[in-house]
Amino acid sequence: MDSSGSFKDTDDYGLVATVGNLRYQRFNPASQNQFRIISNLIADHLSEPYSIYVYWYFLNTWPQYCYITKDSADTVVGVIISKINLHRNVRTRGYIGMLVIDPIYRKKGIAKKLVQLTIDAMIEADHVDEISLETEVINKGALRLYESLGFMRVKRLYKYYLSTHDAFRLILPVSDRAFKRIAFLDQLPEPVST
Ligand SMILES: CC(C)(COP(=O)(O)OP(=O)(O)OC[C@H]1O[C@@H](n2cnc3c(N)ncnc32)[C@H](O)[C@@H]1OP(=O)(O)O)[C@@H](O)C(=O)NCCC(=O)NCCS
Repeated sequence: MDSSGSFKDTDDYGLVATVGNLRYQRFNPASQNQFRIISNLIADHLSEPYSIYVYWYFLNTWPQYCYITKDSADTVVGVIISKINLHRNVRTRGYIGMLVIDPIYRKKGIAKKLVQLTIDAMIEADHVDEISLETEVINKGALRLYESLGFMRVKRLYKYYLSTHDAFRLILPVSDRAFKRIAFLDQLPEPVST
């Protein structure tokens, strides 16, 4: 529950998977209710505060890379928000910006499924060369989740978060370009967003 009511959403737009009584859907960019629910769910459970403009930036530009999970009562219990961009003009890099699961629904494989859906979509639609993200060095759950999917720690970022905690940057190499040095790669055109 949040101050404006509930996390319920009856919109069936973009169903991509059903696992048991959980439904995985793409975010509907026309749904104000989903936007409100997603931003509230993240604000409630992520330590780093984000302004409404950050949510708009991700959800308006890359709605195809936001997925939600709903239970049988239509309550939104998980969300992932991502984007893609060019890295140094030579690699197409996916970036997972935010991932939150309602505490009651944790350790059931929901985050893993949301990350896998995002990875698959980025590879299929934008042929990403690699996917990156940052997480707090103390976030053992997130580190275990991402490392179990093949992400590797590539950098430690000193006092990266407002909490003053350090972050690890993790990268999942996808294509051959991810394994080549930047100096040896041709430049790429800008990816097209919907
Ligand atoms: C981190 C978080 C997204 C994990 O969600 P989840 O749905 O519980 O994760 P899953 O059930 O898909 O677990 C995937 C793997 O991570 C492991 N894992 C998840 N949470 C864990 C924890 N707290 N401690 C240890 N391992 C954990 C699981 O055991 C599982 O490992 P396995 O594949 O070897 O069995 C969730 O705890 C959360 O929303 N935390 C708050 C927000 C946050 O930290 N977001 C990530 C920021 S980058």
